[in-house]
Amino acid sequence: MKKVNERTLILIKPDAIQRGLVGEITTRFERKGLKLVGMKMISLNEAVLREHYAHIADKPFFAGVAKFMQSTPVVAMCWEGLQVVDTVRKITGITKAREADAGSIRGDFAMSVACNVIHASDTVENAKKEVKRFFKEDEIFEYDKSEYMHVYAEDERSE
Ligand code: PPS
Repeated sequence: MKKVNERTLILIKPDAIQRGLVGEITTRFERKGLKLVGMKMISLNEAVLREHYAHIADKPFFAGVAKFMQSTPVVAMCWEGLQVVDTVRKITGITKAREADAGSIRGDFAMSVACNVIHASDTVENAKKEVKRFFKEDEIFEYDKSEYMHVYAEDERSE
């Protein structure tokens, strides 16, 4: 696998859907030079939510998060790039959005720890699981991105 083929999962959350921020958020990733390889709108069912938020299932705020995440459909996106998981986490900003760095998506668009506009995979291992959780194999697309010759140096693009 090429180094530029690392993948990560983004969910655009209901607060961003309600506030009309899908375009603004997607633009951030496009401008960075990342490659969009999957995108769809979905309603999250109980089973997916329980799996996706298993690590916070025993927290008092879990029920609120589950209700919020089902309040509208979400937009799921899979982005590809060199060290894309870490890069996207930086662009996203920390969970508590009102303390997120200015310039990050949460820092610029959100104030809340729950309504923090997007979810982003936190590790390469979790990203692999999360992409599989939300996308079937034929919903992820492989294509050459002509922009790559200007986004990466030759050695960064190779195996
Ligand atoms: S993160 O960004 O996934 O690493 O955040 P994490 O701290 O693991 O939190 C997991 C999700 O739970 C939400 N969250 C909360 N909601 C309400 N109240 C409180 N106190 C709270 N703390 C965390 C947070 O929005 C995370 O959602 P995702 O979808 O993972 O970003």
